[in-house]
Amino acid sequence: MITNTELEYKGNLYPNTIVEFHRDTDKLFFTTSNGVILEMTILRDSILRFRYATENIFEPDFSYAISENVSVGFNHLKVEETPTEYLVYTAKLKVLVDKKTLRTQISDLDGNIINEDELGFHWEENYEFGGNSVKMSKITQNAESFYGLGDKATHSNLKGKRVSNWVTDQYAYGKDQDPLYKAIPFFIGLHNNKSYGIFFDNTFKTNFDFAHERRNVTSFWADGGEMNYYFIYGPQMSQVVKSYTNLTGTPELPPMWAMGYHQSKWSYYPESNVRAIAKNFRKMRIPCDAIYLDIDYMDGFKCFTWDKSRFPNPKKMISDLEEKGFKTVVMIDPGIKIDKDYWVYQEAIENDYFCKRADGAFMKGKVWPGECNFPDFTNPKVREWWAELYKEMMSEIGVHAVWNDMNEPAVMEVPTKTAPLDTRHDYDGHPCSHRKAHNVYGMQMVRATYEGIKKYVYPKRPFVITRAAFAGTQRFSSTWTGDNVATWEHLWIANVQAQRMCMSGYSFVGSDIGGFAEQPNGELFARWIQLGVFHPFCRVHSSGDHGDQEPWSFDDEVTNIVRKFIELRYQLLPYLYTMFYRYSKEGVPMLKPLVHFDQEDHQTHFRTDEFIFGEQILICPVHEPNAQGRRMYLPRGTWYNYWTNEAVVGGMEKWVVAGLDKIPIFIKEGAMIPKYPVQQYVGELEIKEMVLDVYFKNGVETSTVYEDGQDGYDYKKGRYSLRNFNLKGKANELLIQQFKDGSFITSYETLKMNLHGLPFKIKKIQIDNEFVDLKDVKLNGNNNIHISKDFTLLHIIGE
Ligand code: GLC
Repeated sequence: MITNTELEYKGNLYPNTIVEFHRDTDKLFFTTSNGVILEMTILRDSILRFRYATENIFEPDFSYAISENVSVGFNHLKVEETPTEYLVYTAKLKVLVDKKTLRTQISDLDGNIINEDELGFHWEENYEFGGNSVKMSKITQNAESFYGLGDKATHSNLKGKRVSNWVTDQYAYGKDQDPLYKAIPFFIGLHNNKSYGIFFDNTFKTNFDFAHERRNVTSFWADGGEMNYYFIYGPQMSQVVKSYTNLTGTPELPPMWAMGYHQSKWSYYPESNVRAIAKNFRKMRIPCDAIYLDIDYMDGFKCFTWDKSRFPNPKKMISDLEEKGFKTVVMIDPGIKIDKDYWVYQEAIENDYFCKRADGAFMKGKVWPGECNFPDFTNPKVREWWAELYKEMMSEIGVHAVWNDMNEPAVMEVPTKTAPLDTRHDYDGHPCSHRKAHNVYGMQMVRATYEGIKKYVYPKRPFVITRAAFAGTQRFSSTWTGDNVATWEHLWIANVQAQRMCMSGYSFVGSDIGGFAEQPNGELFARWIQLGVFHPFCRVHSSGDHGDQEPWSFDDEVTNIVRKFIELRYQLLPYLYTMFYRYSKEGVPMLKPLVHFDQEDHQTHFRTDEFIFGEQILICPVHEPNAQGRRMYLPRGTWYNYWTNEAVVGGMEKWVVAGLDKIPIFIKEGAMIPKYPVQQYVGELEIKEMVLDVYFKNGVETSTVYEDGQDGYDYKKGRYSLRNFNLKGKANELLIQQFKDGSFITSYETLKMNLHGLPFKIKKIQIDNEFVDLKDVKLNGNNNIHISKDFTLLHIIGE
């Protein structure tokens, strides 16, 4: 942890004895004789914020990460004093603050220690840059596991690892390579069946050590800024993730088409090529909702321009594509070409919007267009300007969505790959250098983009994608995991990264399916699609120099498999949309690693591959060549094999058959999975009937289906349809209750229930307490029931 050179190193400094304590409503202040202040804020009974000042001075309180909509309020707060400590009680926690050392220990009200300082807060003065390196060390509890931290391409359980957060353009990264494109300084700890989270809200380069350097110590530190962290108590991991996600915010619902299948390449051009790709999707009957234009659509890589020789009439092309059900998404990078005849450059110069170096020169760097200057997106005026730049592109030309890339910012031909550290930033009125602003640069760019798109696609909903991100970026944009490689190892990485991002509050995530660099063979591509259709963001993207990567680029067998899985995604759209609704509304992660699903089961603590898609579908990708199946762990409970309908009892590893045309999929017993018919794109068909795949359970299970206009904002006025189902099965009967909410009127009148695993033969059916003729519900040998969408109670009685 020595961050300065030996010469400069003056050693760690520590708080000493507390000499003063006072309380101001929800804030408690502990001051030591050497000028350290601990400000502890009680946000909720289970969320505490710890902030430490040295020399009696706090920085102005400002955060890009914390959402404006965060709800706070606690039920109980009491402080007691003993000769040696202060004791702080909330309705869920007890915090002990040691008078001699300022160290804290947090326990639940039963006295179980949840988290405890080792050395606690300490710091080192930074003689080169000013300020401090701020440090915190905690005692690692017995058998403690660690999760979270964004896009780390390493085992899901971070125990024994050291990682750092410095947003980095990492082309063709490898397993365990660190840092990557995202900085999300949030981790989850789990021990003794109790889970908590720590969010270190500091935008400087941060580091985390999980019992790596010292076996019993977990520590985190930053190159500058304040020791400022949020402690979030569970005890369930699901509560921790939800609370963290609420703290840093969730996105509004995207348009449903954003959850369709998307096709991208670096690059599709000219126009005739784009049209040919689109045409082939429809001809081959492979569903697709969006086509991406990478940098080559621009004139000399200048943002907000079009290469007219390649795209003579973009407006016409985009509207023709739209008629066929395709949305067009275009790339915008942060680097603005230095070119006195280029209007974007001119405007930025006139208004002084570019970042400058310490001594006043513009910050310069090479990217695709050659030498560029870079807008300072941490300046609110620059963000407003940037948002307006999208006006013509969106409202005149008709582009549907925007993809922000290289926003780390990536700079070519320099060893640091980014802006020099002395580059100055406004940081929303808190001027600073790039050391502090680097990790949020991309976030502020995509925030500005989001504002512009939102304004200019109105009354439709915006959809944006970003590569770089800091904690909280999920409020504005979806994301992908950057420049991966077409290898089997990367398929494993993509799986872990997507789960980890979901646990880090960022659910709208996917990988470049098939791999960005190099070329997959058909088998790898098919296996990757099988995973990718279960990621919230589902896009094939690849760099052009390694051959084609469209669904039909391999052989017929692969094309058919790819079609089958993309079709499955389209069938599952109402399920996926409901997942997104719960993420957006409650902060529930869309993918859940098994440890999130069942933390009491120790078998789950080190699993990486299996995950729960939404609430009730268990997925386990196959990421080895030539596999006819794989071993996987089924969590506790009973699961139906999706392909065979066989009910399997979990809590153990199993061999599951999955030749190339299958991936292990299991459905939780009692689940009611909604499905739409296959469409070639979202909104192609008017839905005539919604299918509910009902999986019998001897017991109780609840399921939810959320629907609305699939775009626009009517849902905010109550025009949505929320169906909550309660399923209750017994040896010879099945009861399903429906509770409906919202005023949206769905296009279909009936629900078709496919009853799986019914242990009896149907004798009678009652709907809303009236017996019905079995013919009226069109019951046939397959246990399919057609029933009014407004039923409230379905009672199926067996023989
Ligand atoms: C970066 C992006 C990649 C894109 C390429 C060209 O490498 O990560 O997705 O295709 O730039 O724009």
